[in-house]
Amino acid sequence: MIQRKGISIQRQIVEQERQFPKASGSLTGLLMDLTYAAKVISREVTKAGLVNILGLTGSENISGDEVKKLDVYAHDKLYTAMSHGGHLCIMASEETPDLIPIPEQYPKGKYVLLFDPLDGSSNIDANVSIGTIFSIHRKKSPGTNGTLEDCLQKGTEQVAAGYIVYGSSTMLVYTTRQGVHGFTLDPSVGEFLLSHEDIKMPAKGKIYSINEGNAHFWDEGTRKYVDYLKDKDPATDRPYSLRYIGSLVADFHRTLLYGGIFLYPADYKDPKKPKGKLRLLYEAAPLALVCEQAGGLATTGRERILDLQPTELHQKVPLIMGSKEDVLTYQKFFRG
Ligand code: AHG
Ligand code: MN
Ligand code: MN
Repeated sequence: MIQRKGISIQRQIVEQERQFPKASGSLTGLLMDLTYAAKVISREVTKAGLVNILGLTGSENISGDEVKKLDVYAHDKLYTAMSHGGHLCIMASEETPDLIPIPEQYPKGKYVLLFDPLDGSSNIDANVSIGTIFSIHRKKSPGTNGTLEDCLQKGTEQVAAGYIVYGSSTMLVYTTRQGVHGFTLDPSVGEFLLSHEDIKMPAKGKIYSINEGNAHFWDEGTRKYVDYLKDKDPATDRPYSLRYIGSLVADFHRTLLYGGIFLYPADYKDPKKPKGKLRLLYEAAPLALVCEQAGGLATTGRERILDLQPTELHQKVPLIMGSKEDVLTYQKFFRG
């Protein structure tokens, strides 16, 4: 077995492309542009504390450009890195209410990019892990410019999906439907190197991840399930441990590697969050593809996330995902 650990993400992406002789190389180019944007955002995120200490926020920084909130900064860097490559026909971001067209002067491609430029932004000032999430679809509509229809595709149609987690190290985890692979950024060479090949989520975990502060707003089934996890029964590893970071990417990344279950259920008593808080297109669907490719499950409680037909760009869905056995147990309790 060739020692593959440590190979660069570029080499791994090209090797995957070679398995498709008819591939144009456009998806490869798209993913390379994404890795570049990830490096730039990682550099800025790791300096975030400095931004506040040096009082750069809201003023000009040393290179003379205006310092922005990291969400907006990450959005702008992704837009700049992705808009001119000729691989995309349209984009959509959590940070912009409407579709993001590719500028007239740039060539158009056959892919669609949906992204959450900075996930977990409430955690930035506390130096807690945050992330970026991306989802890639193939253009379905006629003509060269992408449309809303191209963005509103089911999660099962995704060509690729993944995330970057900016933590004690910066990792990029993605799938092109050939398994899930994790790369760790080596800042000394500025490359993402293969560190977690073909990640498989444990079939069952011992950790549950949910914002217990919302317990009074959950449906009866979710409440009964969480109480079940707290009962004492060593034969089924109960009580489970609670781990909740409040950054979806970080909570999911731990669930992917350690197993267990992440839940952001609907808020039955909060009219602002009748479908929960997380967005389908650029949070739930991409992570659901990674989750299933690693052997896990992702559901609303009633339906498979990847089967949902989106109706609007920023629509929210309840999201329960993680180890197969844990999600199946949850579904026995869920009556929402
Ligand atoms: P974003 O920063 O992109 O708006 O996402 C924040 C989300 C997600 O990262 C996390 O799982 C969730 O907000 C936490 O919400 P609560 O604080 O309500 O638990
Ligand atoms: Mn988010
Ligand atoms: Mn965000």
